[in-house]
Amino acid sequence: MQFLWRRYEERLEPVRRQVAEFVGARPRDIVFVTNATTGVNAVLGSLKLRAGDEILTTSHDYNACRNVLVEAARRTGARLVVAQVPFPLGSSDVVVEAVIGAVTQRTRLAMVDHVTSSTGLVFPVAQLVRELEGRGVDTLVDGAHAPGMVPLNLARLGAAYYTANLHKWACAPKGAAMLWVREDKQKDLQPAVISHGNNTPRAGYSAFQDRFDWAGTFDPTAWLCAGEAIRWLGRLLPGGWRELRERNHRLAVQAGRVLGEALGMGALCPESMLGAMVTLPLPERFQGVPRAGRIDSEQERLYDRFRVEVPFFRIGRPERRYFRISAHIHNSLSEYEYLAKALCRL
Ligand SMILES: Cc1ncc(COP(=O)(O)O)c(C=O)c1O
Repeated sequence: MQFLWRRYEERLEPVRRQVAEFVGARPRDIVFVTNATTGVNAVLGSLKLRAGDEILTTSHDYNACRNVLVEAARRTGARLVVAQVPFPLGSSDVVVEAVIGAVTQRTRLAMVDHVTSSTGLVFPVAQLVRELEGRGVDTLVDGAHAPGMVPLNLARLGAAYYTANLHKWACAPKGAAMLWVREDKQKDLQPAVISHGNNTPRAGYSAFQDRFDWAGTFDPTAWLCAGEAIRWLGRLLPGGWRELRERNHRLAVQAGRVLGEALGMGALCPESMLGAMVTLPLPERFQGVPRAGRIDSEQERLYDRFRVEVPFFRIGRPERRYFRISAHIHNSLSEYEYLAKALCRL
């Protein structure tokens, strides 16, 4: 009772303010969710889609979030359209052309990733939101990887919806995520889990926040820790978060070059499209090997023999195999040199 009923709200509000400042938004437009998938579920579950409407995504989207769109389309008779964004690609214009080229009169919502998961690209979300909203299409930005990796100003971005994880680059505990909703869209938005908030208004809170803040009895520890995670990481370097983001970006780019040279691979995208992750092709001898288990056997061996964990991906038709590196404050270039040697010996 002490923690959940008496103290929860007064502890959550300062965190909401810290998170809001971190992502360039007003606290009143932000609610907490347990992960980006839950944010996407809330948005798709609240849309009043009709048969014949179209929802748009890209071929670089995240499987769990794609599933939410597939299910919303199945439930309502809407059609899911997938804009095919090539990979490798030479410029961010290719992304805008693919997405805008897939918009029709019937497009109601577009989901675009801010930082793509398997391909590790920073999509030009500001331009995408501008072009989509200009055509009357609401945008849901899946920013799962964005806070802490790329600078954010959600108020200026002005998408209809933006969901993001704080348990990735902001290093909050798992279960810390947020959903930002533009004021004009808040009225119709319901959480994925409906609880007391629908008929329990609180002084000083918007109805939008009432509905989301109490999603049934749960452990809000991860949410309450998010502010301290942001504050702590922001004090590690003299230049704060900006320096941290820039350092991570530089290290990722350098690491990508080191690995590319060691494995004889060229870059798959311009460096300007990278944040703090880089996806690279696996050597030719790994290509064409069918998947045997839930995790690729080479990824298992890399971990078992060399104690390196990097995700392996299969992308495109015909399928090519890739791996993705990440760079954060605890990483150094020598680790990627070690990974290059490990991949050569695997
Ligand atoms: C682009 C993208 N969207 C959504 C997610 C889902 O995140 P979560 O499992 O925390 O909901 C991820 C996770 O890696 C992701 O990379």
